[in-house]
Amino acid sequence: MNINEKLILEAINSRNNAYTPYSNFKVGAAVLTKSGNIYTGCNIENASYTPTVCAERVAIFKAISSGEKKIKKIAIVGKFDTYTYPCGVCRQVIREFCDDDFEFIIIKNEKEYKILNLNEILPYSFGPEDL
Ligand code: THU
Repeated sequence: MNINEKLILEAINSRNNAYTPYSNFKVGAAVLTKSGNIYTGCNIENASYTPTVCAERVAIFKAISSGEKKIKKIAIVGKFDTYTYPCGVCRQVIREFCDDDFEFIIIKNEKEYKILNLNEILPYSFGPEDL
């Protein structure tokens, strides 16, 4: 199994942990860090709605809070058999911790996925080096 296949399985597994009593829309994510570790996340909703956090940010914040400095890839799965793309807030959070060679693995199902780069997902972006 190559690393992309591993991330896809991890994202699909993590999706099972999604806490989504309000939207019932489950998302799973798996991040690969530059150091080679994998961190997973699922979306976690809240009765007060706004504290809801996306699967992508859960995975990224787990990585960063564990001491990781840079992320290399993220695999994302929402509803099976459609592509779910990261929201604008998550794109900006990814921008903070990635380099130009970052890859988004957008999963349709276990066998079908597309790989997009940062410039395709977040063109004309603003990041730490722009301050
Ligand atoms: N959601 C994610 O977790 N990631 C995305 O990329 C899109 C949206 C979540 C937030 C909320 O729990 C539910 O999906 C519906 O918006």
